[in-house]
Amino acid sequence: MSGRSLRIASIPGDGTGPEVTAEAMKVLAAVSKLDGFAYEVETLDWGGDRYLRSGELIPEGGLELLRTKSAIFLGAIGHPEVAPGILEKGLLLELRFKLDQYINLRPVKLLPGVETPLAGRGPADIDFVVVRENTEDLYCGVGGFLKKGTPDEVAVQQAIYTRKGCERCIRWAFDFTRKRNSPKKTLTLVAKTNVLTFGHDLWWRTFQEVAKEYPDVKTDYNHVDACCMWMVKNPDAYDVIVTTNMFGDIITDLAGILQGGMGVAAGGNLNPDPGGVSMFEPMGGSAPKYKGTNQINPVAAINAMAMLLEHTGQPASAAKIDRAVAQVTGTKMKSQAAGKMGYGTREIGDFVVAALGSASH
Ligand code: IPM
Ligand code: MN
Repeated sequence: MSGRSLRIASIPGDGTGPEVTAEAMKVLAAVSKLDGFAYEVETLDWGGDRYLRSGELIPEGGLELLRTKSAIFLGAIGHPEVAPGILEKGLLLELRFKLDQYINLRPVKLLPGVETPLAGRGPADIDFVVVRENTEDLYCGVGGFLKKGTPDEVAVQQAIYTRKGCERCIRWAFDFTRKRNSPKKTLTLVAKTNVLTFGHDLWWRTFQEVAKEYPDVKTDYNHVDACCMWMVKNPDAYDVIVTTNMFGDIITDLAGILQGGMGVAAGGNLNPDPGGVSMFEPMGGSAPKYKGTNQINPVAAINAMAMLLEHTGQPASAAKIDRAVAQVTGTKMKSQAAGKMGYGTREIGDFVVAALGSASH
């Protein structure tokens, strides 16, 4: 941020992305006023509509523009008229890769008043964080077809793991676990070392080596399939999980539903290096069916805005938003869908803004 005001690039995107982004921006405006910090937002019309209009995904000079920002806020990507993979690869994954956002940080916290499908579990039981590697693995797009479209067709899709890539992610996760300082203070590696005996052996060895630098952090290991079982059975056992890109994608959908679903789950794509630009997003998709209906819960987007502030030097304002959101969910929410709560997207945003004042302490 280099002493200048907070400079945000906003990509509201497709479907209901713009609606939830508007609520996050409303909360940002309110908290900045309360806490007296300045910011500017440049809104970019990247997404499905622009692609259909002009064929452009990231327009020329787009990455250079983003590199001048303090952070990026992304609403949602995904358009019913665009074939699967084009926007995901050409926009979302492209930004993650080109900006080297090598950490995908996904907090899993059951807020008061939010329903979890796990019987008998409450907020005290579900409070952990998944650190997902975000630049390697099956996501690299390495592979190809042989004899495509014939009965002899071969398709190869390779998982790439590098020492540098897993080490920087694992080290960041250890640092994060140390700082989080929960009573468990445990970092769990989730992988599949019994089958992926090359790639995940690299992860395993790197994890063991880096662990030596963090004697105060306890370590654990789960195979990914067992993790899916334990996460449902004993979610309270987890503190921080570090995992590969593909497994992280899968287990964070499971984790997301444990915390009440995509209406509340947020994530950060972090480039923690000096000068790195990070991107924050609600985890849910663009839900085109609900576009313009004022029904989507904006809490995930508001949580993503809190994460953005936390990571751009405004941790007190982030905490204030967290408290306001918890106050709203604790008193107003019975379901993850705003419509089912009897409130609209905009009203939930208004509730959070109203709660900010009393969430000052
Ligand atoms: C996510 C999403 C993306 C991913 C898709 C949209 C490419 O599922 O952020 O988890 O697989 O990473
Ligand atoms: Mn996913």
